[in-house]
Amino acid sequence: MRVLSGIQPSGRLHLGNYFGAIKQHIELQAKNECFYFIADYHALTTVRKADDLRKFSQEVAIDYLALGIDPQKTVFFRQSDVPEVPELTWILTNLMPLGLLERCHSYKDKIAHGVTPHLGVFAYPVLMAADILIYKPDLVPVGKDQKQHIEVTRDLAIKFNTAYGELFKIPEPHILPQYAVIPGVDGQKMSKSYKNTIDIFCSEAELRKRVMSIKTDSTPVEQPKDHTKCSLFALYELFATPDEKKRMEDIYRKGGTGYGAVKEELFGKIRDYFKPYHERRNSILADPAYVATTLREGAGRARDAAGKTLREVKKAVGII
Ligand code: ADP
Ligand code: TRP
Repeated sequence: MRVLSGIQPSGRLHLGNYFGAIKQHIELQAKNECFYFIADYHALTTVRKADDLRKFSQEVAIDYLALGIDPQKTVFFRQSDVPEVPELTWILTNLMPLGLLERCHSYKDKIAHGVTPHLGVFAYPVLMAADILIYKPDLVPVGKDQKQHIEVTRDLAIKFNTAYGELFKIPEPHILPQYAVIPGVDGQKMSKSYKNTIDIFCSEAELRKRVMSIKTDSTPVEQPKDHTKCSLFALYELFATPDEKKRMEDIYRKGGTGYGAVKEELFGKIRDYFKPYHERRNSILADPAYVATTLREGAGRARDAAGKTLREVKKAVGII
C-alpha cells in the first residue's frame, strides 16, 4: 500500500506528535511504500520569522531521521520542494465549497479565539488535500485532530472524480484509538500552540522539569486515586508494559503513593525510551550533508510521482 503523511515544522516535536503520528509512520515503513514530508508551506500559516521556519524545518528533518525514517525505503522530502502541489491546490480551490471550509475546526478555533484569520488558515485544508491526492496514497496516518482534513480531502477527490473522471484515489485516514489524543502537561491536548508539550529531544533537566509540571488533582497521598481521569497516568501508560500498567492501576486504587513518585517513574521511562534516538540524532548532527542529500533525493522521487498526477489533472481540466 502507498502511505503518505506530513508534519508541520512549527516547533519542536513532542510526545503527542510521536505517539499520534511519527510512531505509526516509522512502523508502516516495514510493509508499505511510504511518502513523508515536512509541511513547511502549512507552517507558513503560523510561523512568521524566516529564521524560525528554517530552523524548525531542519530540526524536524533531523529528528525524524533519528527516530527511524529510512530514506533508502521511504521518500522523505520537504513539501515546498514539490511546486506541483501549489499548482494542484489552485485547481482544487475551484471545486472547494466555501461552506465546507467554514466548518473546519482549525478555522473555527481561530474565530472563536478572536483571531482575525487570513486566507492561508481558511484555505489550509485545500493545500492539504492537494499534497495528499497528488501522491495517490491509500492510507494517511495522522492524529485525531487531522481527521476532518482527511474527510475534506476525500470529499474533494470525489467531487473532482465526478466532474472530470476517476483520477484520484480516495484515501483512508489511519488513526490508532489508543493514541488518538495524547494529553499535555495541563491536561488539554498536547500541542505546540498550547505550550503544554513534553518534547522528544529535550535535555534531561528540561524533561524532568516538564514531567514534574504535569497537572494532577489534589487527592491526598494516602487516599485512592482515579487513574481514568489522570493525564499523568495516560502518559505513563504510553511507556508501560501491560504488567507495569496493571501495577500502576493498583497503586492508584490502593492509595498511599503520591503523584510525585509516579512522575519520577514516568521521567525515567521517557528518558530511557528515547535514549537510543538521542544517540542516533547526535551522529546525524555530526554529518549535516547527510540531511541535505537525503531531502534532495527525496524531493526528486516525490516530484516524479507528483508530476505524473499533475499532468493527468491538467489534461482532465483542459489546461493541457
Ligand atoms: P501541534 O498540534 O503540536 O502543532 P501538529 O499539528 O504539527 O501538532 O501535528 C503533527 C501530527 O501529530 C498530526 O498527525 C497530529 O494529528 C499529531 N498530533 C499532534 N498532537 C497530538 C496529540 N496531542 N495527540 C495525538 N496526535 C497528535
Ligand atoms: N496538517 C497536518 C498537521 O498539522 C500536516 C499535514 C500537511 C499533513 N499535509 C499533510 C498530514 C498531508 C497528512 C497528510 O499535522
